Amino acid sequence: MSVLALDAVRIRNDVDGREIVRGVSFTLEPGGVVGIVGESGSGKTITCRAALGILPEHFTIASGRIDLDGHDVATLTPKQWTGLRGSTISAVFQDPASYLNPSLTVGSQVAEVVRVKLGLRRKAARLHAIELLSSVRLGKAVFDQYPHELSGGMLQRSLIAAAIAAEPKVLIADEATTALDVTVQAEILDLLADLRDTTGLALVVVSHDLAVVAQFCDEVLVMREGEVVEQGPVEKILYHPEHEYTQLLIAEHESYGLERYLVPS
Ligand SMILES: Nc1ncnc2c1ncn2[C@@H]1O[C@H](COP(=O)(O)OP(=O)(O)OP(=O)(O)O)[C@@H](O)[C@H]1O
Ligand SMILES: [Mg+2]
Repeated sequence: MSVLALDAVRIRNDVDGREIVRGVSFTLEPGGVVGIVGESGSGKTITCRAALGILPEHFTIASGRIDLDGHDVATLTPKQWTGLRGSTISAVFQDPASYLNPSLTVGSQVAEVVRVKLGLRRKAARLHAIELLSSVRLGKAVFDQYPHELSGGMLQRSLIAAAIAAEPKVLIADEATTALDVTVQAEILDLLADLRDTTGLALVVVSHDLAVVAQFCDEVLVMREGEVVEQGPVEKILYHPEHEYTQLLIAEHESYGLERYLVPS
């Protein structure tokens, strides 16, 4: 059974009536990885926010359906959403530092998520947070460090630890590695792939970077101005793109070495 399915989802900004997303569909099975690429403002993040139940104010799902682990999200109350967020679907975004309180230790913030989401007492939450940090390959010392003492890659790992605390079935990584240097980016992707393999975590990976998508995703959606211009298996889309816009994206990337990741088929 799918853990996340979007069917012809359209999202409208009710302030001006403009449709920001016009018909996105995909199905994510456990352990599956869907990529979303496309130019800035094409609706990638808004699509993710709809799946997370955190659309900006005045944005609504105009038509179509989002099914999250068997729940039609249109029928969910805010309380039910709170229950599902974290424990069924979770997310990490760009700029990890902005999601952490600079005056609290990283460990205490991860432990707080654990305490709230898993209903653990403080001491148990602390122990579990240390385990989570270790699962994202962060040592025990990180627990007592403050955000400014950690690198961007370590901060993103801490946020991934918090995001997977309640063992969600779906993790959305929206430009989660964009601000990181290439080596650290590779480490984070490796970590996500590991989580997918060991826990069956399904992933939605939003990235400007086609190389990330080529390495990591099974299926990819190419978005432009709220529309999906092309969609299919990664090898097909990145190696035999049919749409002009996809061809353009790939041509732009080729100068950055995308061809290293593409295996002729
Ligand atoms: N909070 C908001 N309020 C009003 N409009 C918004 C808001 N967030 C996004 N939009 C608009 O919705 C459209 C899609 O934005 P979205 O953030 O989904 O793009 P994106 O594909 O994620 O772009 P990027 O690659 O830059 O992250 C844009 O026109 C944007 O201006
Ligand atoms: Mg975005």
